[in-house]
Amino acid sequence: MNQITPPTRIEIIPPGAPFSEAQRSWLNGFLVGMLGLDGSTPLSSDQNGAMLAPAGDGDDGEAPWHDQAMPIAERMKLAEGRPLRRRMMAAMAQQDCGQCGYNCNDYSEAIADRSEARTNLCVPGGKETARILKTLYEELDKAPAAASAAAVPAVSVSTTISAPGRSRDNPVEAVFLSRRLLNKPGSEKETWHVEFDLSAGGLDYVVGDSFGIFAKNEVGLVDQIIALLGASHTTKVNGKTLRECLIEDVSLSPAPDTLFELISFITGGAQREKARALAQGEDPDGDAATLDVMACLQKFSNVRPHPEAFVEALEPVQPRLYSISSSHNATPGRLSLTVDCVRYVVGKRKRHGLASTFLAERINPGDQLKVYVQKAHGFALPADPKTPIIMVGPGTGVAPFRAFLLDRKATGAPGKNWLFFGHQRSDCDFFYADELNAMKTSGLLTRLSLAWSRDGEKKFYVQDRMREVGREVWNWLAEGGHLYVCGDAKRMAKDVERALVDIIAQFGARSTDEAVAFVADLKKTGRFQQDVY
Ligand SMILES: Cc1cc2nc3c(=O)[nH]c(=O)nc-3n(C[C@H](O)[C@H](O)[C@H](O)COP(=O)(O)OP(=O)(O)OC[C@H]3O[C@@H](n4cnc5c(N)ncnc54)[C@H](O)[C@@H]3O)c2cc1C
Ligand SMILES: NC(=O)c1ccc[n+]([C@@H]2O[C@H](COP(=O)([O-])OP(=O)(O)OC[C@H]3O[C@@H](n4cnc5c(N)ncnc54)[C@H](OP(=O)(O)O)[C@@H]3O)[C@@H](O)[C@H]2O)c1
Repeated sequence: MNQITPPTRIEIIPPGAPFSEAQRSWLNGFLVGMLGLDGSTPLSSDQNGAMLAPAGDGDDGEAPWHDQAMPIAERMKLAEGRPLRRRMMAAMAQQDCGQCGYNCNDYSEAIADRSEARTNLCVPGGKETARILKTLYEELDKAPAAASAAAVPAVSVSTTISAPGRSRDNPVEAVFLSRRLLNKPGSEKETWHVEFDLSAGGLDYVVGDSFGIFAKNEVGLVDQIIALLGASHTTKVNGKTLRECLIEDVSLSPAPDTLFELISFITGGAQREKARALAQGEDPDGDAATLDVMACLQKFSNVRPHPEAFVEALEPVQPRLYSISSSHNATPGRLSLTVDCVRYVVGKRKRHGLASTFLAERINPGDQLKVYVQKAHGFALPADPKTPIIMVGPGTGVAPFRAFLLDRKATGAPGKNWLFFGHQRSDCDFFYADELNAMKTSGLLTRLSLAWSRDGEKKFYVQDRMREVGREVWNWLAEGGHLYVCGDAKRMAKDVERALVDIIAQFGARSTDEAVAFVADLKKTGRFQQDVY
């Protein structure tokens, strides 16, 4: 961590400001460093986090909980005794997925310094994370003055509004152009190639970036909810009709604690007890995990909240991110995604993922939607176009690698390209088969290695294929190649990393510990990059 010490004392917080001397002094130092008033480079958001650690607050700067496969209880245990902001970070889903608009560290710092009041932005962490963050947020007020110095800024540090279309807080319009199903008949999956025209918002992007979209809820679901409320869809709420408001502005899944609270306030007896327990994260009937907004209204079917109070109790709709599967260099003004549709059944009711089904069936060619480009941090093509790349992307994990290949083709990059793709069945789940085979024939795709998990009797995954050709994988790495993984974080990415360690140990003649250190070094030097969730 770079320590930045102001050479001369610059006073930003006036002596009369409502801070203790210690707080004032620390804030002065922090703001001077952050704004670069000491002649240093103003801090980036990543450095920002580091600087927020007042010396001696019990933080060693480590984040042992930063592992998306670790259960939340274990992560919170590892963070016990750490400063509030570190416990806040441990409560997040640790994916640095960018959906909240930050990485996990920066989001926790922003909540702790009160520049971010929303404690419900961690999409992968869901309600579990939101609950713990809310409790920790309440602790901020009780924290001793010195320890909470970082958490006081009633000071108006001017926050930069990001350029249009560059963050979830400032989306622009794009036009939906088309969708095409990538699976053939017989597949168990439903994955769509979808295309957008960016010219209305003037957006561009580089390969590796993700695309954020704001989706709309299904009219059918909304109308069922309005019926359960016993309301009229034309009732005015927040200057819109109730129906418009429920379609565009709020999340209808899962039911937030505030909705259970509202229900507990307006009912009595056993129902009240139940709603109160659910609002506190308890599970009186063993169905808490399945309660989306509609299931909640059905559960408390005799309770009819007023539409205004109901809408107020819901969470705002969150954008969803998708890895961009096109290259702006190849097709300026155009952008494509590779979207797996989320559909499942709970009891007798079919449930639909909000954004994936919006793109799969509710938006029509020519429709506009709100979007933004989420810059990738540490997921990009190598700076040197001659560098060989190995890409491991099963399922929709192929998305950014299609983009990498199209980009290398458009820019004439001479580096070798090797793609490991896998999915369930070769005859119906080989996404972009024609394109990839053509790239192989043209020589752009030096190697294409495939793994079909359900073609044979035994599961066969991309990492199994990697092990088979481990010597060549090692040779590419030894030549200075970069390795990329995209797709499922919980199982696939870990298994691929394990296979990589084994390959390096076997073909690089290293002990397992040395191979683990080798992989860690690849990560540190940006030669092993992941876009996983
Ligand atoms: C950086 C990044 C890049 C991504 N890139 C891609 C990509 O390229 N392609 C892609 O398809 N996705 C990608 N995703 C995932 C994507 O953002 C969405 O999370 C995904 O499409 C689901 O969103 P949804 O709105 O359709 O579903 P949601 O409405 O968010 O519903 C999903 C939720 O439904 C529940 N659920 C799902 N299945 C079941 C089940 N069987 N039983 C019970 N509950 C269930 C779970 O709680 C799950 O969290 C990416 C995510 C990130 C963070
Ligand atoms: N960039 C991202 O963050 C990103 C990218 C892609 C997808 N996603 C999300 O991930 C979810 C599923 O994605 P998907 O449709 O791409 O396919 P998927 O369900 O992840 O399956 C793709 C292939 O991976 C196999 N697989 C399962 N476990 C594995 C393991 N441990 N190691 C290696 N391979 C394994 C599957 O085999 P079996 O099913 O036969 O076991 C299948 O053949 C979606 O909800 C999508 O939103 C996110």
